[in-house]
Amino acid sequence: MSIGTPLSPSATRVLLLGSGELGKEVTIALQRLGVETIAVDRYADAPAMQVAHRSHVVDMTDPAAVRAVVEAERPHLVVPEIEAIATEALLAIEAEGLATVIPTARTTALTMNREGIRRLAAEEVGLPTSPYRFADSAEELAAGAEAVGFPCVVKPVMSSSGKGQSVVRSAEDVAGAWAYAAAGGRVDSGRVIVEGFVDFDYEITQLTVRAVGASGEVETFFCDPIGHRQVDGDYVESWQPQAMSEAALAAARDQAERITGALGGRGLFGVELFVRGDEVIFSEVSPRPHDTGLVTLATQRQNEFELHARAILGLPVDPTLRRPGASAVVYGGLEAVGIAFEGVAEALAVPESDLRLFGKPESFTRRRMGVAVAGGDTTDEARARATEAASRVHPVASGGAVS
Ligand SMILES: Nc1ncnc2c1ncn2[C@@H]1O[C@H](COP(=O)(O)OP(=O)(O)OP(=O)(O)O)[C@@H](O)[C@H]1O
Ligand SMILES: [Mg+2]
Repeated sequence: MSIGTPLSPSATRVLLLGSGELGKEVTIALQRLGVETIAVDRYADAPAMQVAHRSHVVDMTDPAAVRAVVEAERPHLVVPEIEAIATEALLAIEAEGLATVIPTARTTALTMNREGIRRLAAEEVGLPTSPYRFADSAEELAAGAEAVGFPCVVKPVMSSSGKGQSVVRSAEDVAGAWAYAAAGGRVDSGRVIVEGFVDFDYEITQLTVRAVGASGEVETFFCDPIGHRQVDGDYVESWQPQAMSEAALAAARDQAERITGALGGRGLFGVELFVRGDEVIFSEVSPRPHDTGLVTLATQRQNEFELHARAILGLPVDPTLRRPGASAVVYGGLEAVGIAFEGVAEALAVPESDLRLFGKPESFTRRRMGVAVAGGDTTDEARARATEAASRVHPVASGGAVS
């Protein structure tokens, strides 16, 4: 496709549903390619809104509201950046040819619900997963937990970032896990998945790009595997490349190609996998840039946001790793509006480091407010640098003067 001039009748327009830190980087990548960008989120001044041409505050779980913003803006592409979207509106928008949904409307619907993606992966594509059951009541959950065995993990089918998720070690824990899931789900469908606990050696994100290749057809491209560490369902640190055996790497890529192929469309996907020896177990997939992939800001010729932008526009991609690297999250650490970051100069004095401060208007103790990335000769060196840089940044309550 050709790319027009922003803010003119020839403009190529992309509308992002969700305007967080990942959407901000996608928007920047699109801006660089001369795309007109429209950022949508449920609150004003969200990160991507600060760099887009226009923005709208919209309840994205309301199908009529999603429809209205797409009709008003007439984007060529609609790019979901979060899971909590009224996907029925996206299905209609795609079916009527109003806009192209990235990667496809069906994929956004399947991946927002753990049941959709788990059944596709395990029952249709045939990928190895943990044993699982679905439950609509505490009684069904108790039976499901017995069936998959202890320990197991209980998650609302509609949730992300570890919300409502808990590990159940014995039958006595089941009632508590049910109540916790009910409180943490995104919509209170009251449905949960219970999965066998995978005692993995490490877990990875296999960034996988479906983009037009030299053949002129959509081909599959792989980034080097990203290792990461999760605390309470939230990633705190990631690094690339994660060292893997040849067999495990081959299995990871095979699974990533199969699941993204079954989902279809163009764009970058974050395939989450557990690894135990040479064995790879599929966990889940996001049809968009992945938070652990923030590390690619420091490591790849084209970071995951640039890869996504290029793939969705039908442009060639290059997923090559340039340098080992790592990322470490900067949390708010306090509840306040309009915080300031101290220690930025000290953080950026760390060799090969860089920072992204997302510009979120409101800070919460466990809200991700920024990220430090760093390169190194090895991932160990990069991890030490990224962690050091992140630790030097101190969010404070009042907007202190720049000294
Ligand atoms: N069956 C399992 N066995 C072992 N660990 C698990 C299992 N399921 C989840 N985990 C751990 O919990 C983390 C979060 O799980 P999962 O990715 O399913 O949740 P999520 O809410 O979708 O999180 P996110 O949105 O951040 O990806 C995983 O990265 C892994 O560390
Ligand atoms: Mg996950």
